[in-house]
Amino acid sequence: MKILHISAECYPIAKVGGLADVVGSLPKYQNKQGITSQVIMPFYDNKFTNTHKFITVFNSEFQLGEINYPFTIKKLKNNSLGFDLFLVDIPELLHKKYVYSNDDTERFLAFQIATLNWILTWKVKPTIIHCHDHHTGLIPFMMSQCFKYDRLKMIPTVLTIHNAQYQGWFSHNKLNLFPAFNFKNVGLLDWDGSINPLAAAIKCTWKVTTVSPSYMEELIHSANGLESLLKHEVSKCKGVLNGIDTEVWNAETDTYLIKNYKISATQSGKKRNKLYLCNQFKLNSSKPLFIFIGRLVGEKGAELLPEVFEKALTKNELSILVLGSGNVEIEKQLGDLKAKFKGKYNSYIGYNEKLAHIMYAGADFLLMPSRVEPCGLNQLYALRYGTIPVVRSIGGLKDTVIDISKKDGVGIVHKNVAVNEIIEAMDRAVELYNNPLGFKKIRKRGMQKNYSWEVSATSYINIYKSLKA
Ligand code: GLC
Repeated sequence: MKILHISAECYPIAKVGGLADVVGSLPKYQNKQGITSQVIMPFYDNKFTNTHKFITVFNSEFQLGEINYPFTIKKLKNNSLGFDLFLVDIPELLHKKYVYSNDDTERFLAFQIATLNWILTWKVKPTIIHCHDHHTGLIPFMMSQCFKYDRLKMIPTVLTIHNAQYQGWFSHNKLNLFPAFNFKNVGLLDWDGSINPLAAAIKCTWKVTTVSPSYMEELIHSANGLESLLKHEVSKCKGVLNGIDTEVWNAETDTYLIKNYKISATQSGKKRNKLYLCNQFKLNSSKPLFIFIGRLVGEKGAELLPEVFEKALTKNELSILVLGSGNVEIEKQLGDLKAKFKGKYNSYIGYNEKLAHIMYAGADFLLMPSRVEPCGLNQLYALRYGTIPVVRSIGGLKDTVIDISKKDGVGIVHKNVAVNEIIEAMDRAVELYNNPLGFKKIRKRGMQKNYSWEVSATSYINIYKSLKA
């Protein structure tokens, strides 16, 4: 069985969010389970592509509207990723410093067309084509409707929705960019008057998966306009919880950490990482350290953080460190808090993978007050590194973090995205911290949870098997 994953992001080549982590690790675990799993993504102009060697395995050209673009398919040489990696190089369109911008429609359509043109030339076709999010959502449509891809019609497609908030909408006047298709089926592309790549994918794909079972249920009621479509297609939808790459996320071997530690030496190991963080960011290391890592956007509840932090820092003895970027106003408000709470609060605006790893290792609590959280990987990294998650009960957070008031609890859970509820949850966290025996017990229990891909990789393989002709 040969699976081709098609994605805009893949760690460590290009990462904007959790999508990259999933596409950079699931195929590796699938290969370990005896199937052949490969990835294809755009060739961006970034640190990874500039410092690695590639071989060209195919070159051709394709048409986007009136224009012909040359493209090549490159394969990563000396590859230690655990799966074959192919990149579509369309110098004029994809060779950019960014992954997403305001020219996504043309760029990702071009990526998808070039990818399908290449697959047409494969002697033995992929058994399954696995698309991720709206950036690759037009693939199932084109495979089933464009005359040119008639020979790909019988290959089953799987769409994984990592985040249904983003759907890739564009206007009908760009229909000329598509390869010719039977126009009477144009409705498959449309949702509410726009071309909607995510909706088109849900309609045309053989199977839809979401990255947690709870998110699947939630989407029926809240999917940024696609509720009725998902309800209609529910029989082909399934929630499969994401896993994490436990080789990358291993506190015993993680080379980013200041000190590595085993589960039996968690206390001293975490302490060293915490001391480093507190020195770097001028925080008091004797207090419980809360962290937030992520995009500073409403979806993550980030606009409440300035008020939450202001109140929590005034009321309780604690330290807070933020890593993330996003909404400029939130970034500014979080920056302004630094002067007011010197020694107690700091923030790093930006993306920094190494710092993120040290924060999971050095912190006591991770805050995730998300409004929407399809799966969430940060709580899984935190659990594995002995940092107790403080989360809102939604999506994947609901499926992975049980409140400490319950048997088997590993974290602190609040129901709503509201300032007072987040502060109450932080109060409970401080209380737990002040009870060292209870704190250690919960921490250890979280570290013993197994959220490795091994389990979920099997679920995907079962889905593939059920689709195979
Ligand atoms: C998106 C979601 C996140 C999920 C990730 C990987 O970033 O917002 O919840 O964990 O995709 O599937």
